[in-house]
Amino acid sequence: MHIEHNISLKQYNTFGIDVKARQFISITSVTDLKSVYAAQDNSVKFILGGGSNMLLTKDIDALVMHINLKGKEILFQTEEDVFVKANAGENWHEFVIWTLENNFGGLENLSLIPGNVGTSPIQNIGAYGVELKDVFHSCDALNLETLNIETFTNADCKFDYRNSIFKQEAKGKYIILSVVFKLTKKNHVLHTNYGAIASKLQQMQISTPTIQDISKAVISIRQSKLPDPNNIGNSGSFFKNPIISKTEFLKFQENFPNAPHYAITENEVKVPAGWLIETAGFKGKTFGNYGVHKKQALVLVNYGGASGMDILKLSKLIQDTVLRLFNISIEAEVNII
Ligand code: EPU
Repeated sequence: MHIEHNISLKQYNTFGIDVKARQFISITSVTDLKSVYAAQDNSVKFILGGGSNMLLTKDIDALVMHINLKGKEILFQTEEDVFVKANAGENWHEFVIWTLENNFGGLENLSLIPGNVGTSPIQNIGAYGVELKDVFHSCDALNLETLNIETFTNADCKFDYRNSIFKQEAKGKYIILSVVFKLTKKNHVLHTNYGAIASKLQQMQISTPTIQDISKAVISIRQSKLPDPNNIGNSGSFFKNPIISKTEFLKFQENFPNAPHYAITENEVKVPAGWLIETAGFKGKTFGNYGVHKKQALVLVNYGGASGMDILKLSKLIQDTVLRLFNISIEAEVNII
């Protein structure tokens, strides 16, 4: 194991924020991971996965552990289903493409999401009508207190919209090592009703889509709306879509009858934060080298050289303005460090 000192984390976070780690180590085996914790040297540790859902606002005065556990395998299959395991450091999209090359169905709508497999359960990643929880079977995680490996089933993870046990009571107590997905080998369940998928498929002149076609449609929609972190620093949706009570919604609707909205339960309504931010006038606004993406108001962008504090201040200005105009609080989806 090789510990580096004072290294820039710019290439390890998709926002491209240039902060330093006091110490940095790339973890390539569970044995190495355990030995770092077994050392009991009381050093403060910071776990870094794909760096795609965080805003770094300061230097990290800790041992940054980059989880780089690689590998994927088919564990078990039946006529209908296949159980596939991927280690935490596998790149999410490369893994999705591999499943599609094998004609395994379930992850196609989640194509092109930045980040790694190991962090996908933490916020129950979701896009185009599918959430990770729909295909997640279980995950193995290292208990940082006992150093035992524990298995979490789908129910154990308490998945919810952009939420799981790993953001709540288990936060900071585990490192996810690998995830098992239950995918289909035939009779794939296609999700084509959400958003622009159906019209994109039509445009592609595909009437009976395969899972690979859906992936292509999703990739094309994402590329047209969302900035590629390799070109423009960003962390995808910066905010969650707020869920408000029906009573609050009815009041809001009196003033904004055209606002898009989705019923979540009988008493809860989701209002797209992107619409609120756009209506508040922020879409496409730039403030020097950072701003709000021109095609998707939920995404804050670093055009190069912005600091995490710049982006944090902008996010607060957006939150305050949205609250003032609509009386709705929007919460950050990304982790602010
Ligand atoms: N909208 C606007 N202006 C905008 C953006 C959106 O008015 O600038 C409106 C749209 O017109 C539409 C509604 O908001 O009526 C919803 O928009 P869209 O379907 O594009 O999705 P979203 O709610 O903005 C969510 C996820 C995305 C995911 C898409 C597609 C959250 C926080 N974000 O965005 O996830 O790709 O749905 O499923 O739930 C991410 O988490 O990083 C992410 C990109």
